[in-house]
Amino acid sequence: MEFSQSIDRDRLPRHIAIIMDGNGRWAKERGEDRVYGHHEGVLSVREIVNGCAELGISYLTLYAFSTENWNRPAAEVNALMELLVTTIRKEIEELKKNNVRLHIIGDFDSLPDVCRNELNEAKEITADNTGLNLVLALSYSSRWEMLQASRRIAEDVKSGKLMPEQIDDELFHQYLNTAPFPDPELMIRTSGEYRISNFLLYQLAYAELYFTPVHWPEFRKQHLHEALLNYQQRERRFGKTSEQIQTNSHQHV
Ligand code: IPE
Ligand code: IPE
Ligand code: MG
Repeated sequence: MEFSQSIDRDRLPRHIAIIMDGNGRWAKERGEDRVYGHHEGVLSVREIVNGCAELGISYLTLYAFSTENWNRPAAEVNALMELLVTTIRKEIEELKKNNVRLHIIGDFDSLPDVCRNELNEAKEITADNTGLNLVLALSYSSRWEMLQASRRIAEDVKSGKLMPEQIDDELFHQYLNTAPFPDPELMIRTSGEYRISNFLLYQLAYAELYFTPVHWPEFRKQHLHEALLNYQQRERRFGKTSEQIQTNSHQHV
């Protein structure tokens, strides 16, 4: 493929996070129900999971359902939960074949039993896979995650397990749902909205942000490759000067 040829395989992000947005608008534009857009969005998930696996990306986090999405009409919420179950059931063989390991972040207990059972099973089945780590953010919001972490830290301080002086960036990370994963270097949002919508606020501190007008159901490997090419043209400075980065360009910053 034209794009994959010019991607520098040595400078790929380890972790890509995606806000999969625009299913509803995509469907409406076609005179269809929003739920049709969610169904079509599953095809994009499959394609992008494969695309990341092919490139050797280690972590892909997909924002699939936010804490705030519970406030949508019940029919849409139910359809999304059902879609989650049928998709996991259908895709599990493909995940196994592609050596993908499934992880979940978010308020797992808030999900319906049938979803939790399906997800637990899929996590177990893929637990020994060593390729792409696919992290689904479900009933997830960053504020929820940080508040929960703060509460657990406070409990550990209260019980004497932890001293307040020990609370640093690394320790705080360990209390987040994303503790096992490195921070994303690249965050993609589809469908033309320029916002983060309560997604990985702490972890995205130095991520490169990429926004595309393409609606999620139309997002294909080619678009992923465009985002990666764009990412590779950026200079990640981490608060330093451009000169410092260029002198140290042979070192890992
Ligand atoms: C993203 O598409 C999927 C979820 C949030 C579950 P939307 O459903 O937000 O689609 P738009 O943004 O209304 O077009
Ligand atoms: C963010 O999209 C959540 C997911 C993609 C799951 P939303 O469509 O819910 O975000 P807002 O409401 O436009 O900010
Ligand atoms: Mg949306």
